[in-house]
Amino acid sequence: MSIAVCPGSFDPMTLGHVDVVRRARSMFDQVVVAVAHNSSKRTLLPPAERVRLAADALAGMDGVRVVTTDGLLVDLVRDLGACAVVKGLRSGADLDAELAMALMNRHLSGVETVFVVGDPGLAHIASSLVKDVARHGGRIDDMVTPAVAAAVLDALAPTAGGGGEDGR
Ligand code: PNS
Repeated sequence: MSIAVCPGSFDPMTLGHVDVVRRARSMFDQVVVAVAHNSSKRTLLPPAERVRLAADALAGMDGVRVVTTDGLLVDLVRDLGACAVVKGLRSGADLDAELAMALMNRHLSGVETVFVVGDPGLAHIASSLVKDVARHGGRIDDMVTPAVAAAVLDALAPTAGGGGEDGR
């Protein structure tokens, strides 16, 4: 059985991510979506919330499950017996960033990264932009699931602490 890991910050999961996971699932028997820690990002949503929202967005997708990790991605890949990491690409800028991680992960463990080109109709969607649009009062309901939209608006509400990016 082939298992692939689809890692990310998923802060929050978007419809672009869902598209990439669906495409990954068409190539592998199982896809494990890993909510992981990116040291260069401060998150809006805590890890457990990101896992909950990702699981909700992917509910009903057979052969897909969501986990979280605080450690190295390659350790999770090894523990799961996965044969590949899958990441989505929207642009050349994505490739620049992803290539460095793919090379590092292969250096650390030999794991290969498979790049999936997402639906161009979703290429404008990035978690950071979704949060920025929401923060400034724009509509995000066509870029994320209803549960994610509600969670982002809730996290950005003044009562939630002013919308600081410190979910971890
Ligand atoms: O969605 P992102 O922020 O681009 O995902 C990056 C992520 C979380 C997959 C990456 O930072 C990661 O793998 N973090 C886990 C810790 C790790 O393995 N770091 C070395 C990466 S080469």
